[in-house]
Amino acid sequence: PYRIAVFASGQGSNFQTLLDSSREGKLGAEIVLLVCNKPEAPVVERARRAGVECFLFEKKAYARREDYEAEIAQELERRSVDLIVLAGYMLLLTPVLVDAYQGRMINIHPSLLPSFPGKDAIGQAWEYGVKITGVTVHLVDGGMDTGPVIAQQAVEIAPEDTVESLEEKIHAAERDLYPQVVSWFAAGKVRIDGRRITVG
Ligand code: GAR
Repeated sequence: PYRIAVFASGQGSNFQTLLDSSREGKLGAEIVLLVCNKPEAPVVERARRAGVECFLFEKKAYARREDYEAEIAQELERRSVDLIVLAGYMLLLTPVLVDAYQGRMINIHPSLLPSFPGKDAIGQAWEYGVKITGVTVHLVDGGMDTGPVIAQQAVEIAPEDTVESLEEKIHAAERDLYPQVVSWFAAGKVRIDGRRITVG
């Protein structure tokens, strides 16, 4: 089967969604590795419970980002990983992984890019007062949330919303969108032509 590695740093709600979809046969892919830079993060416990192998590390144990990424690259190669799926992975990537997995690394971001890149995108959209925001899945390039867009899902901000209810709507959109996109990759349906990505 198609083999994915999920990179995450926090709660792991997207990791859990992907795991559940995989086990229900909806992904056409198997999660063969969790990579996490926060050994205490809740996502690690989720992986352990599910029997998913983990590569855990702490940034401060390494002089350069390239050093831990070289170790990660070995773990990925050993398991013949087809696709890297970033799910709340809060470290910037270097060419060690970006170049090796060009066209084979995706990220989910909680806004309609190119609006609100970077940290706390939901809070940024809330503070700005936009009426429509959403979720973007994109290919990863060297920049911060700059890679070609694969899919987007809009979320409306209604008058009665609070920042908390907006977060819940965004997470629901993520649960909907991310497994779909991974399943497209697993089925070989994604065509990449520069920044133009088509599916089908
Ligand atoms: C998700 O909302 C994801 O879109 C966001 O982090 C959250 C992780 O939640 N990613 C970014 O902001 C990337 N710039 P999770 O750990 O529960 O999946």
